Amino acid sequence: MSIDIVHPALSDYLLDHATPADEVLRDLAEETRRLLPDNARMQISHDQGTLLTLLVKLTGTLHAVEVGTFTGYSSICIARGLAPGGRLLACDVSEEWTGTARRYWERAGVADRIDLRIAPAAETLRALPREEYLDFAFIDADKVGYPVYYEELLTRLRPGGVIVLDNVLRGGRVLDPAARDEPDLVIRELNDAITADERVESVLLPVRDGVTVVRKR
Ligand SMILES: C[S@@+](CC[C@H](N)C(=O)[O-])C[C@H]1O[C@@H](n2cnc3c(N)ncnc32)[C@H](O)[C@@H]1O
Repeated sequence: MSIDIVHPALSDYLLDHATPADEVLRDLAEETRRLLPDNARMQISHDQGTLLTLLVKLTGTLHAVEVGTFTGYSSICIARGLAPGGRLLACDVSEEWTGTARRYWERAGVADRIDLRIAPAAETLRALPREEYLDFAFIDADKVGYPVYYEELLTRLRPGGVIVLDNVLRGGRVLDPAARDEPDLVIRELNDAITADERVESVLLPVRDGVTVVRKR
């Protein structure tokens, strides 16, 4: 089962009505498609990137974390929204993919604001101080890890801080009881758990493959 979350014609219209990507982001999207055709779909779309930049700005973020960096599109969008002196901790397991990210961070002029940790993200997050100091986090890595990433990040999020989770509709498979793959089951359960979580207020937006925005009370 795979549903168009948004009609394809409207999808193009939405892309055309976000603040346009600059040359760096356009080149990064093009290079990722050209060099990594089998994986390029993992990259966030430009309207998602614009949403991230806006949310980072709206929260006045000094301390941001990203789980799942790939070739760097979302990290550039987050880094560009940081308040002066702000920093982004980027978590990934791939030296190869994040090598591209590092090149584009330089080009975008944000390399000095980003710390990259190459390790399973659960380890990286568990090693962070257990204090409520994070302003913003973006989760876009292995789906089975999402519940751990959500808990570790929420524990460290300040009241009023925001967590954004990508791919929470799983191509519409959250609706399909026959979809029994572990990532589908984990995300369906997490979506229900977040809705019932009294520590937060949240909304699931039909942006691309579904984006949940969570605010800690
Ligand atoms: C969907 S891609 C991220 C796309 C990225 N946000 C962007 O805008 O291009 C998922 C990334 O998660 C990374 N990843 C997978 N398992 C991971 C883990 N256990 N810890 C940290 N990163 C992981 C992959 O190496 C991959 O780069």
